[in-house]
Amino acid sequence: MILNKLLNTSKYCPINNKKNTKEYFVSLLTLKGQYKNSNYYITNHCMAYINENYLKLKAGYLFPEIGRRVREFAAANPGKDIIRMGIGDVTQPLTPTILKAFHDGVEEMGHKSTFKGYGPEQGYDFLREAIAENDYKLRGVNISADEIFVSDGSKCDTGNIQEIFGDNNIIAICDPVYPVYADTTVMSGKTGACQANGYFDNIVYMPCNEANGFIPELPATRPDLIFLCFPNNPTGTVATKEVLKLWVDYAIKNKSIILYDAAYEAYITEDTIPHSIFEIEGAKSVAIEFRSFSKTAGFTGTRCAFTVIPNELFAYDLKGNQVAVKPLWMRRHTTKFNGVSYPVQKAAAAIYSEEGKKEVKGLIAYYLENARIIRESLSALGYTVFGGINAPYVWVKTKNNLTSWKFFDKLLNDANVVGTPGSGFGPAGEGYFRFSAFADRENVIKAMARIKNLTY
Ligand code: MLT
Repeated sequence: MILNKLLNTSKYCPINNKKNTKEYFVSLLTLKGQYKNSNYYITNHCMAYINENYLKLKAGYLFPEIGRRVREFAAANPGKDIIRMGIGDVTQPLTPTILKAFHDGVEEMGHKSTFKGYGPEQGYDFLREAIAENDYKLRGVNISADEIFVSDGSKCDTGNIQEIFGDNNIIAICDPVYPVYADTTVMSGKTGACQANGYFDNIVYMPCNEANGFIPELPATRPDLIFLCFPNNPTGTVATKEVLKLWVDYAIKNKSIILYDAAYEAYITEDTIPHSIFEIEGAKSVAIEFRSFSKTAGFTGTRCAFTVIPNELFAYDLKGNQVAVKPLWMRRHTTKFNGVSYPVQKAAAAIYSEEGKKEVKGLIAYYLENARIIRESLSALGYTVFGGINAPYVWVKTKNNLTSWKFFDKLLNDANVVGTPGSGFGPAGEGYFRFSAFADRENVIKAMARIKNLTY
């Protein structure tokens, strides 16, 4: 029946003026496993097709969209001093020890005896060993260098990781959420259409709101892959050991995998808050962790991050056989990625030297002080604020029930301050606004003074 439909509805190709043959459609449907009973519809196959999942995405990616609006405003209002507290992009330069290591790495590339071509795709041993030792062993977590993959960013890794998991997986994400998890889930074809309320079919949304302290509850519908991010972007909240234990136990019971984004762990100030999901017993059999040097040491422009996939993490093939996950990521990484440049990895390794550690602590303290100023200034002005204690983001409720984008416009027009509308992180972010603490101190203070003068 499907074959007849295809033959009857097939159009003449505008290029070669021919119709496809019955044999063509049979082989096409056989290839797709849809010959017998599918409703699959295709017109004459004589053109390049796009990945239709991209058409499901409603708006442009959040941060370029904000950038576009700010550029438009700046063009229409030349000379305005715009303070940017939108995208979480660092402003303070690389610290001396890291910079020196970077220079040394570049210098080595200029001499025959120390020059390096392709490096190991998963990262140089000196960096992976420093990560294993400092980020894990010193915190009592046994992660070995061979479980660490150095990359050019957590944004890329959290998006790309989906490729090694089947498209039939159901994904759970928080709402609001870092948009990369949602958008790449859509791009990979794991969702249905976007509904009028902004939610995609086939995603399990986990609402995070004031009532639950912006900590998601365990989902009633079982997902296969669960994105969690702590300290959280955008709400700035953190998960205790007890909360993470609930998630690990849930994942073990449900044969799910947690994709844990810990890009902001360096901002944790409270001793009892875990920095890694692997601090939780059992997590190595159910979690992948993403870490980044971007916000830790000012590498947003330099690019360096890493992903940890434990040897004991398994997923399943369609017959129900266990398959180790790490070799699949290794296969992907070695096929599609040629490694982070040597000088950048050398600079990243310097973060773990005694001097490097001290300097990076100073950077983080600087941004956390900004966060404190934002929190306290806005609270004093009667705004309800969250986050900003263990995270570089302050999550604020708008005043007078303004929508997030209305508040964005008001702030841009009346105070010339840029932030990120909460609704850009998902429908549950409506009515909220995110301030990034990565601006210069002087600008943070100026921005708060301007917000004080806003009239409603
Ligand atoms: C943010 O502002 O949410 C981050 O800068 C985005 C990112 O790290 O990719």
